[in-house]
Amino acid sequence: MPIVEFRIDPWSSEGLRDYEKLFTYFGVRPFNEVVHQLESFGPLPLPIRRGAVVGHRDFEKVLDALKNNSGFALLTGLMPSGKMHLGHKMVIDQVIYYQSLGAEVFLAIADVEAYGVRKLSREEVINLALNEYVANYLALGLETKKLHMYFQSSYRKEYYRLIQLFAKKVTMAELVAIYGEDLEPAKIMAVLTQAADILHPELPHFGGFKTVLVPVGLDQDPHLRLTRDIADRFSDELGFTRPASTYHKFLSGLTGGKMSSSKPESFIALTDPISESVSKLMKAFTGGRATAEEQRRLGGEPDKCPVYELNQLHLVQEDEKLKKIYEDCKSGTMLCGECKLATAERLRKFLEKHQEKLAENKEKARTLVELPDF
Ligand code: TRP
Ligand code: SF4
Repeated sequence: MPIVEFRIDPWSSEGLRDYEKLFTYFGVRPFNEVVHQLESFGPLPLPIRRGAVVGHRDFEKVLDALKNNSGFALLTGLMPSGKMHLGHKMVIDQVIYYQSLGAEVFLAIADVEAYGVRKLSREEVINLALNEYVANYLALGLETKKLHMYFQSSYRKEYYRLIQLFAKKVTMAELVAIYGEDLEPAKIMAVLTQAADILHPELPHFGGFKTVLVPVGLDQDPHLRLTRDIADRFSDELGFTRPASTYHKFLSGLTGGKMSSSKPESFIALTDPISESVSKLMKAFTGGRATAEEQRRLGGEPDKCPVYELNQLHLVQEDEKLKKIYEDCKSGTMLCGECKLATAERLRKFLEKHQEKLAENKEKARTLVELPDF
């Protein structure tokens, strides 16, 4: 049998669509095996309820912590390399949900990665982080109680100690096996920093959590594989255990294909002027047919439609209402023009409310996190 080599590049702009490979090659488990056990703790957020979270590792640990009320931490990170869009919102929706279940939240602002790998200037990164990311988190409803938000470049010394210790027990060969040949020092730095992000809540200095959940996009799994191995190697020295993680799919781009930060037409940013967002939506690719006649006859394809996805994952909370959109599309009773207008109205309402809260939270965003001094 030929040896199939398959790698996930967390820095590629392609995104990972074929996520079944995470199950077959890498041992990620389908999230639908465990999701029903979460239901007893209260209503699920849209990304979980509507199936965007597809995989997990060791999620049982989180379920145990919830059942035993033993406390757990959530850690995730976002890279401030562009505008915060609805794809990023899916992570924060989950963070807010787990926070409501009692998780102590750690949020890394991946400025080291944005500078080193995405090559943005320090100033750009810091401004994006505050004005796009932190302010939007607050506007979306993230609580500041028991919240630890930090820049990777300006945190406490114990966190840096981890990066230095990890370097000793990771080999070049294993990095190449996970990430490929195209490894530059800035990537290695970003990778070890991310491992410190994920494991530092286990240190007594940061709460000594024994259960840490890391909700991320599918493309981040290579970092989790490496971090799990690092945790094993430091189990004696530092008492580390493996993190639990969940994986969500990417939101589709409005232009068809992947939503991409470098293609503004492909995404709806939370800070875009509303008229601009509506016009992007009205121009969006859909699962509709070539002609109205054909669509009435064959029906549309909501499962391939980014407009449907916006309704499903962001704009329509009520299941009955979403079901009707799905059925009216499938049966050809509703055409894309009408559907887009209704979606635009929902989007306008959402953004209006959101941007009001954003304005209220701008100042607070600046005081919540310690800024790097250069
Ligand atoms: N690498 C992540 C990204 O590209 C950001 C990140 C940094 C992160 N540290 C993390 C994600 C820790 C999860 C956990 O967006
Ligand atoms: Fe998409 Fe709506 Fe058109 Fe169906 S009717 S394909 S959901 S835009």
